[in-house]
Amino acid sequence: MSNRGIRTKAITIGVGGLTSSGKTTLVKQLQRCLHNSLIIHQDDFVSPIEKLPINPEYGFSDCEDAPTAVDWDRMAGVLSETRKTGRIPPGYQSLDHPNESGDVYVDEEIIRKWRRWTQKLASIHMERYGERLVWVLVEGFLLYWDARVISNLDARVFLRVPEDVARARREGRTYYTPDGGVWQDPPHYWEKAVWPAYTRAHQHIFKGGDVVDGNLNGEIKSMMLFEPMEMRMEDMVNEIMESVINIPARPLAKN
Ligand SMILES: Nc1ncnc2c1ncn2[C@@H]1O[C@H](COP(=O)(O)OP(=O)(O)OP(=O)(O)O)[C@@H](O)[C@H]1O
Ligand SMILES: [Mg+2]
Repeated sequence: MSNRGIRTKAITIGVGGLTSSGKTTLVKQLQRCLHNSLIIHQDDFVSPIEKLPINPEYGFSDCEDAPTAVDWDRMAGVLSETRKTGRIPPGYQSLDHPNESGDVYVDEEIIRKWRRWTQKLASIHMERYGERLVWVLVEGFLLYWDARVISNLDARVFLRVPEDVARARREGRTYYTPDGGVWQDPPHYWEKAVWPAYTRAHQHIFKGGDVVDGNLNGEIKSMMLFEPMEMRMEDMVNEIMESVINIPARPLAKN
């Protein structure tokens, strides 16, 4: 049966964090738990290479710095539209985001439990309001920088891994660019581009601006901080899902 014509209520879940912190891996597990879901990848909104600044010292294009790295107007527009309509607007095309999901394990029974739960929530919403319910997972390396993006997230998750872990993972990976090319970090890219840009774009979230060890400072409301190196994937999934099922799904009709 076609869903056209049926109103759809969307609940958005943000998953942010440093490159190689495990965002895509986590989002894939969350998607398995959700009865009905969509994914928006921030990587689909990165600026074309000709718009990126060139590092004056090393001559590489810098894809990391928040003000220039992302087409913020386009990303905020797509996110807001998806949240309002429960559908990804035409014109947004998701690239393939292959990732090798290493050694992560979530018990099938846990997945089934959350799937049943979210299916129940969706049925209740349909019975009460005649609306479908969809959960929209939004993942990105700069998710908590633009106020419009932040305000369109109903749940806000941040993954923090130590710099050396992320760096080692990243240096073992190959990235595909939107034009079908392959990107490999040039020499000095981590310490001159990735890490300083990450620090600048996230210090406002942590006490004392300490992105490495600081606690959240409450600047961004109801953010959940996870340290995946100190926690099992299963426990992260459970904690996030507990919070997701408690987000009130107010009907669109009353918004
Ligand atoms: N909890 C985990 N335990 C062990 N390995 C993990 C975990 N999460 C992710 N990884 C591994 O780390 C690597 C990077 O993970 P992933 O692609 O999910 O990161 P990412 O945050 O999406 O990175 P990017 O921002 O660059 O897309 C992968 O090889 C993945 O297998
Ligand atoms: Mg990813």
